[in-house]
Amino acid sequence: MNREEIDTLLTAAEKFDQNECTGHELDNKILAMLFFEPSTRTRMSFSSAMMRLGGKVLNLGSVEASSIAKGETLSDTIRVISGYVDAIVLRHPKEGAARLANEVASVPVINGGDGTGQHPSQTLLDLFTIRKSMRIENIDVGLQGDLRYGRTVHSLADALTKYNNIRLHTIAPEGLDLPNHLKQDLTDSGTEIIMHENIEDTISELDVLYVTRLQRERFPDPTAFASFATTYRITPELLERAKPSMIVLHPLPRVDEIDPAVDRLPCAKYFQQAHYGIPVRMAMLNEVMNP
Ligand code: NCD
Repeated sequence: MNREEIDTLLTAAEKFDQNECTGHELDNKILAMLFFEPSTRTRMSFSSAMMRLGGKVLNLGSVEASSIAKGETLSDTIRVISGYVDAIVLRHPKEGAARLANEVASVPVINGGDGTGQHPSQTLLDLFTIRKSMRIENIDVGLQGDLRYGRTVHSLADALTKYNNIRLHTIAPEGLDLPNHLKQDLTDSGTEIIMHENIEDTISELDVLYVTRLQRERFPDPTAFASFATTYRITPELLERAKPSMIVLHPLPRVDEIDPAVDRLPCAKYFQQAHYGIPVRMAMLNEVMNP
């Protein structure tokens, strides 16, 4: 999506957020949910968004109960399901799975997260949340945590390059920084990336702090994971050094990287952010099935 398409979609989401809909926009439409990885928010908010527009949801269910357990390829599964529904949301452990699915599908495919690759629908709701608090222009955005395996930050960093004058501050444990190819793309697009070893070095200059969990399941070696665990944690004491207008975001699930005592502070926007998954995904579904 280009900048204009993103902004149009977020403006449409604003209407859904104000309950400006008939509830019949997607009457008689069916959305397939193909989730090959765990999910709470993405799966449930897409389903809820579909139902709120009058549509129906068809779940593949568990991989064990489907023909994938018999050795069917993703391409064949997608080709067949394309004939049953009007759009597909796919979450898959392999990077590039959604792109592949899109090539063989006869209906729109929405990437609900592809391995360590991207998570674009999350990014749209992240941008929507930022937009609720500030203009997405001339701001300092901190990306903290597992920037190597975390797909939400990959998509968010990519999307932010489309906005003017964004400075990206990365704060990652050593070895978990943004992948080199992404850093290159960001730099090529003219986005300034500033790397920090500690959050303390940059907290006072940030407008947005986007925290992520260590992607434990994606570490090739469990002992390597253990060496990273508990290396960072956002606390109320740390946030005392932040600008009063700074907001804290997190795609969730949180493990222990944000102290629950932060939840009651006005800067904590992560639960609101998760709720915005509904209007933003309503806008996405409406756009792909009712253009
Ligand atoms: C994220 C994901 O699946 O990448 N979750 C989500 O969709 N909100 C983040 C994560 O799992 O850490």
